[in-house]
Amino acid sequence: MVKNVPALGWNTWNTFGTNINESLILESADILVSTGLREAGYEYIVIDDCWSLRQRDENDQLVPDPEKFPHGMKYVADYVHSKGLKFGMYSCAGFMTCGGYPASYGHEYDDAKAFASWGVDFLKYDYCFHPCTVPGHILYKRMALALQNCGRDILFSACSWGADDTKIWIKETGANMWRSTGDINDSWASIKDLATSQLRALEYNGMGCFNDMDMLVVGMNAKGNVGFVGCTPEEYKTHFALWAFLGSPLMIGCDIREMSEETLALLKNKTLLRINQDTAYRQPFFCAKLERNPEKIVPGTDYYEKYPLETPILARFLDDGTVAIGIFNLTDSDATIWSATLQLDAIGLGEDTGMTLELTDAFTGEVRKVRNGCIHFRIPKHDCKVFIGKVVPAK
Ligand code: GLA
Repeated sequence: MVKNVPALGWNTWNTFGTNINESLILESADILVSTGLREAGYEYIVIDDCWSLRQRDENDQLVPDPEKFPHGMKYVADYVHSKGLKFGMYSCAGFMTCGGYPASYGHEYDDAKAFASWGVDFLKYDYCFHPCTVPGHILYKRMALALQNCGRDILFSACSWGADDTKIWIKETGANMWRSTGDINDSWASIKDLATSQLRALEYNGMGCFNDMDMLVVGMNAKGNVGFVGCTPEEYKTHFALWAFLGSPLMIGCDIREMSEETLALLKNKTLLRINQDTAYRQPFFCAKLERNPEKIVPGTDYYEKYPLETPILARFLDDGTVAIGIFNLTDSDATIWSATLQLDAIGLGEDTGMTLELTDAFTGEVRKVRNGCIHFRIPKHDCKVFIGKVVPAK
């Protein structure tokens, strides 16, 4: 399935792990609608690992666990569809899923057909217990082709954690998104780790095959399967802003039946979602201060080496001529408040153009015009600023 903006939705894994069942899915579908999350764009309800019995049946078919899903998967899919949502499921390119349930290697066509017959719209495809004699790109091609011939449009969400050079071959498969990181947990350390790894791989993101930085931990508050130590409100804000800005699919991972108003407001932030869902999908870039003698890129050296990964100032050219600006303080020192300077010539808007940016703050709505080609911000640790900049005359 071709989808030209990152997928938005909710996934069971981060909070519920193996503890999933029909009523959880039905209730969560209701909540996506009643909270306005569906209207905001979150359309996929995805059941992750641990939904089936531990063995295939006598015909080698996957069997939904009748205790967890007493009416089967078609029933769940029909309910999800009746709410105007789409339905996602999970399997794995190996012999077993990461949780030890039967997976799809050698069963790709049967499983793709089963998913299609249940009404599945999205398949997350993991990478555990795969045969070591078959390279990753073949494993993903095997299922990709089965999905493309199963008679239903099923969005392919590859989940090989960036391993085995996924970034080089993943677009060949037709996957719409690819997990470019290891698993997240609900802590600042994990958020920072995943974000900085993505800041070194901006060129591998792109239209139609989006870097999936893993499901969101926003609003988990240390509860659930990957709960761990939890995060502060600023940390969740910066996490969501980074994932949105870097074009990751946004899969909510908290228990949406119990989320706070603050969590809901963050997940529905219009400006961040607008940046994430930009239809032009252009690569984000670092706004580095221009030096008198611009550094040459020496072949063989790391292009990203010269950029500060802990204090990135990023920009993205959006589809309507505006420019998204994101300024992130990922440093961990309590003592310093980072004095960040955004220079407009670093985005291609030198003072000699006679133009400047009018910045609208994604969180407060405040509007400010940049004067004299640059603007300063003071940003505490783990916090961020995000703006949409409109190109306007300087005078
Ligand atoms: C892997 C994936 C996770 C989740 C689990 C399920 O770790 O990366 O996102 O799907 O498997 O077992």
